Amino acid sequence: MTFARNATLEIFGQRHELPFVVGTEGETAFDITRLREQTGAITFDDGYGNTGSCSSAITYIEGEQGILRYRGYPIEQLAEHSDFVETAYLVIYGELPTAAQRANFSALLTENAAIHERMVYLFESYPRDAHPMALLGAMVNALACYYPHLATNNHNRDITNFDDAATTLISKVRTITAMAYRMSRGLPVIYPKRSLKYCENFLHMMFSEPYDLYQCSPEVARALNLILLLHADHEQNCSTATVRMVASSGANLFASAAAGVCALWGPFHGGANQAVIEMLQAIHDSGDDGTRFIAEAKDGNRRLMGFGHRIYKNYDPRAKIIGKTCESLLRTLGLNDPLLDIARNLEQAARNDAYFVERRLYPNVDFYSGIIMRAIGIPLNMFTVMFAIGRMPGWVANWREVASNPRTRIYRPRQIYIGPAQRDYIPVGQRR
Ligand SMILES: CC(C)(COP(=O)(O)OP(=O)(O)OC[C@H]1O[C@@H](n2cnc3c(N)ncnc32)[C@H](O)[C@@H]1OP(=O)(O)O)[C@@H](O)C(=O)NCCC(=O)NCCS
Repeated sequence: MTFARNATLEIFGQRHELPFVVGTEGETAFDITRLREQTGAITFDDGYGNTGSCSSAITYIEGEQGILRYRGYPIEQLAEHSDFVETAYLVIYGELPTAAQRANFSALLTENAAIHERMVYLFESYPRDAHPMALLGAMVNALACYYPHLATNNHNRDITNFDDAATTLISKVRTITAMAYRMSRGLPVIYPKRSLKYCENFLHMMFSEPYDLYQCSPEVARALNLILLLHADHEQNCSTATVRMVASSGANLFASAAAGVCALWGPFHGGANQAVIEMLQAIHDSGDDGTRFIAEAKDGNRRLMGFGHRIYKNYDPRAKIIGKTCESLLRTLGLNDPLLDIARNLEQAARNDAYFVERRLYPNVDFYSGIIMRAIGIPLNMFTVMFAIGRMPGWVANWREVASNPRTRIYRPRQIYIGPAQRDYIPVGQRR
């Protein structure tokens, strides 16, 4: 971030100099960190649409053109040549790993795959039908109970153990997810296998039986790698901003990531992939091919889930990649999913309709990812959990930026108060 020159702000005839900052890709901002001190006023930006809350070297997004890069690498190149574990390393540490660094990172993930045996009792005390995101949030937070040496809430100490904490989180989150799935169905827990790679190991823990090992096809492993890789980071979205907010108080990685899980759960964020499938299924069940639904969305009575994005005002580059993989995976597996036909119809109709074109509403990453997860056999209520597994590297990298920066101050936005002005207490008997 460079300070190019000053900008002048005039408030009621008084002029104030504000530093004007420029990022690597030319994006610009007024630095208002001393605004209140200088002018007595704060900025008002409901929903933070115009607020840069930090400087970050992790991910670059240009929403008008549909550009997404992790650490400078275009998402299209990573999707074609990399896999989730390598991309996770890149996102967290800033560079593509050498062969030795990659092997070391994989070894740490393997070493940290199993969860503390006593955590199994935690699962047993939850209702069988508990939502997997509620469980995930609780279990990620609980990691601080079982691995307290990695979660001291002293950033200097936690950063010293960072490699261990990061791989513990990224590896165990997969084991926790699979374990929750097995237990919710009354199935025996399947333990991780050292010989398997990250995605294959997850599918093994989900779908193997003690008497029948799951055979993972390379296409399925590749599709899962792709989904996780495409979700690995996405700049200052709701959950990542939450992770940074919690981290800024000095909280450990597990606590910060658990807060990220909670933020991700909502239907306007990570819950959208589940909402897309529910929408497509409802359209299918009603006998509509999508035409009626589009009309209702234009009337404002429905929202076309998986469409639109706060930042992308062009095709979400991840949706393009996922859309292609969706078709090829279903073809390879010999699956004919009627929901894919409806999704294609909706996309076609929306892209030729003035309502969607004028508002620049294009498919986002969630529009096709659910169809892939259905094909893999992942149940609907676990879709957002899959998003969370994919997003872990981004949360870890953002936590690290906050925790390793000696100049980090606790995040503390201000507000414009609109409640009652001062008034006197009324005893209960006199209240009307
Ligand atoms: C992602 C999302 C929350 C972004 O919201 P936002 O930036 O606040 O955009 P707004 O809600 O202000 O929408 C702008 C306009 O487009 C319309 N719009 C936005 N998304 C729409 C959708 N998915 N279907 C129909 N209309 C939509 C709004 O009704 C609004 O219309 P108006 O100007 O006539 O009032 C929103 O597009 C959405 O709800 N999409 C569906 C959920 C989803 O897929 N989320 C995953 C995001 S990765």
